[in-house]
Amino acid sequence: IPVAAFDLVIFGGTGDLALRKLLPALFRRDAAGQIPVQARIIGLALNQQTTAEYRYQVADALQHHLETSELQSDLLERFLGRLEYRVTDVSDLASFQALAGVLDEHPERVRVYYLAVASVLFDPISHGLATAGLTGNNARLVVEKPLGHDYVSASHLNAQIGDVFDEHAIYRIDHYLGKETVQNLMALRFANALFEPIWNAQCIDHVQITAAESLGVGSRGGYYDTAGAIRDMVQNHLLQLLCLIAIEPPYRFEADAVRDEKLKVLRSLRPLSGRKVLDHTVRGQYLASSSSLAYTEEVGNLASMTESYVALKVEIDSWRWSGVPFYLRTGKRLKAQSAEIAIVFKKPSHLMFGELPTPIFPNVLSMRLQPDEGLRLHIMTKEPGPGGFRLHDIPLDMAFAERQDAGWRMPDAYERLLMDVVRGDQTLFMRGDEVEAAWQWIDPIIDAWKASGSKPEGYEPNSSGPISAIEMMARDGRRWREIEA
Ligand code: BG6
Repeated sequence: IPVAAFDLVIFGGTGDLALRKLLPALFRRDAAGQIPVQARIIGLALNQQTTAEYRYQVADALQHHLETSELQSDLLERFLGRLEYRVTDVSDLASFQALAGVLDEHPERVRVYYLAVASVLFDPISHGLATAGLTGNNARLVVEKPLGHDYVSASHLNAQIGDVFDEHAIYRIDHYLGKETVQNLMALRFANALFEPIWNAQCIDHVQITAAESLGVGSRGGYYDTAGAIRDMVQNHLLQLLCLIAIEPPYRFEADAVRDEKLKVLRSLRPLSGRKVLDHTVRGQYLASSSSLAYTEEVGNLASMTESYVALKVEIDSWRWSGVPFYLRTGKRLKAQSAEIAIVFKKPSHLMFGELPTPIFPNVLSMRLQPDEGLRLHIMTKEPGPGGFRLHDIPLDMAFAERQDAGWRMPDAYERLLMDVVRGDQTLFMRGDEVEAAWQWIDPIIDAWKASGSKPEGYEPNSSGPISAIEMMARDGRRWREIEA
């Protein structure tokens, strides 16, 4: 869908997020012909450099983050030609006035301000933009996690940016919502008549959501050690996935209709606090191996109590989900890089086959987010031949990559999300009240961990995580699914 010319301003234009994610995504959209000829991308940062130097810097980053085959010289030249760079000090009003001089060349355009900077700068930047008269009807603000550290700080942040921008102009990115499989979850549930009638406690035994990473915290130790897996992954990405599985059908595929339903789910999460937290959660920290450092060594804090792994049993107090646990887990330095949502159905209520040579497994609908995005529905199927009634769990497999021949390509989440901002579609962005509701549910868990004084349990690198997480499932008579590469 074509969009009108726009100006996209990236605060933190030389930072990691801009160079690794935003600019490569914009390059791809440009290569796809979706960015109008007159559009401008303006990078802002403190570094003293010229636009020509910035273009070199971005070209270098694109070479690192994109395939060589994508970087055709004419496309690269066109994209770099759209870039401008401005030295900007966000504590100085003169910088905003200078920006106004540039943007006011095209007052009618949509202006997107992407704050690819630490959240302490959200307030000075929003107010700087307001003072320089840059927050009219066509202005949109994009912010990204961490959106606060707890409920109080998140509501404070919301109030600060809300003081300048209307909620309809604020785009809070959760890049998981831009992943194709996640959007496909909406298609699966609401564009097919097949699943909705069985999408409830009568037919579903439980749900597992896994986001496993094989890498450690690497160079992000400073930030990560203040956050931990629950703040880094669960409060946002995993709870957002849970919401999309659990929501009631929205009346329309439209921002507030979808977000109202997600908010209801967040508000119906059964609160976990005190003793219950310890039964419903497991925290882990990866240990050292012969080739890798332990978590505590990597972050340079040997006494660290921060979890690099967390597993949770979550219950939803609603008619649809009563008695259906959602098991969530995420961690670093696990055995594979793999993210999956698995809907595990109940077993048939009556088994008429008597003694069988092979077991009957429950049907599982697995939605793989990465790698190899796709859907798989596990069905019990009879092995051909006269040798008894042998059943096998055979997946009906739909790997999206197989559609590549038909011209399908799996875009990066940011490609979709950035263009949605330009188009003014907030459906895949979090509303302020959702973020706050998620923190309200998370805070008592972290408080209970602190009060317990106990350390996260060590787990072996390249494993499936702490033993206690397996035991938590076993207590419920269930098992985690294999973490598959
Ligand atoms: C980020 C977290 O939000 O998501 C990282 O801060 C994590 O710690 C990343 O590695 C995972 O994203 P993806 O898209 O690789 O699953």
